[in-house]
Amino acid sequence: MADIAYVNGSFVEMNDATVSIKDRGLLFGDGVYEVAGVFEGILIDNDAHLERLKRSLQEIKLELPMNFSELAVLQRKLIHLNKIKEGTFYLHVTRGASESRDFEFPKEQQPSLVMFTQHKKIMNLATDKLKAKVLTYPDLRWKRRDIKSIALLAQVLAKEIAHQAGCNEVWMHEDGFVTEGGSSNAFIIKDDKLISRKNNETILSGITRQAVLKLIQQEDLVFEERPFTIEEAYEASEAFYTSASVFVMPVISIDKKIIGNGEPGALTLKLRNLYENFARSFINQSQR
Ligand code: PDD
Repeated sequence: MADIAYVNGSFVEMNDATVSIKDRGLLFGDGVYEVAGVFEGILIDNDAHLERLKRSLQEIKLELPMNFSELAVLQRKLIHLNKIKEGTFYLHVTRGASESRDFEFPKEQQPSLVMFTQHKKIMNLATDKLKAKVLTYPDLRWKRRDIKSIALLAQVLAKEIAHQAGCNEVWMHEDGFVTEGGSSNAFIIKDDKLISRKNNETILSGITRQAVLKLIQQEDLVFEERPFTIEEAYEASEAFYTSASVFVMPVISIDKKIIGNGEPGALTLKLRNLYENFARSFINQSQR
């Protein structure tokens, strides 16, 4: 099966896709990225992902060498070349390569754009794939988590610790409160009330979270936007996390403490179902 990547103006075989060892993404983690889901060959909620990319780029004072509709055309071409039906779409923009390893921005910036796709089943998952275990771990990241930075070492280490403990995701915490998942946003449900931390610089504004909040509103569910403690999470009746690559993922245990009855919660599954329908709506839109 074709495995093509896009690197700075060219579609190339993945094995031939290279960037300079002087790329500031490699040297400094100086870049930002996006991950969007793909279903039936269509990007899910891509406009929102590109809007967030635009903001991340602005925050790090970097300009994409093309406009966003041109970028979307390249994205669709890559999906077509790789025949991706279901999976994820990754892209990043770094500040490119410069002559010397100076921390300051190079005088002439030549941003580097890299994109690739991955096959992954994300829709209609079997029940046993909807039982995530979570480990909590201190949030060791910098203070601008609203920027989708490619510098992910704190999450890499935290997620590896969770993985070693047999867990699927880590929930990071700071001052006793859960901030977010290693690569997702965290929710708990108590007395039929959904609780999730407010967006600010302490977390990434998840695109899936935004869509789920709209669904919560549409369904007239009660939502409280506030931080919650780890202890509150242990006692929640349901818990879940959201991201472009897992949608709405039910949590059945946190630090080995069983959540609810140890099965995906009813309200969580309802939201997952609604989100899957939302994801399908992009196929219909593209056929119009
Ligand atoms: N991560 N918080 C963090 C720290 C994340 O890395 C992500 C996504 C999210 C959820 O955002 P969204 O709903 O827009 O995917 C929240 C992606 C999936 C990743 O790094 O692979």
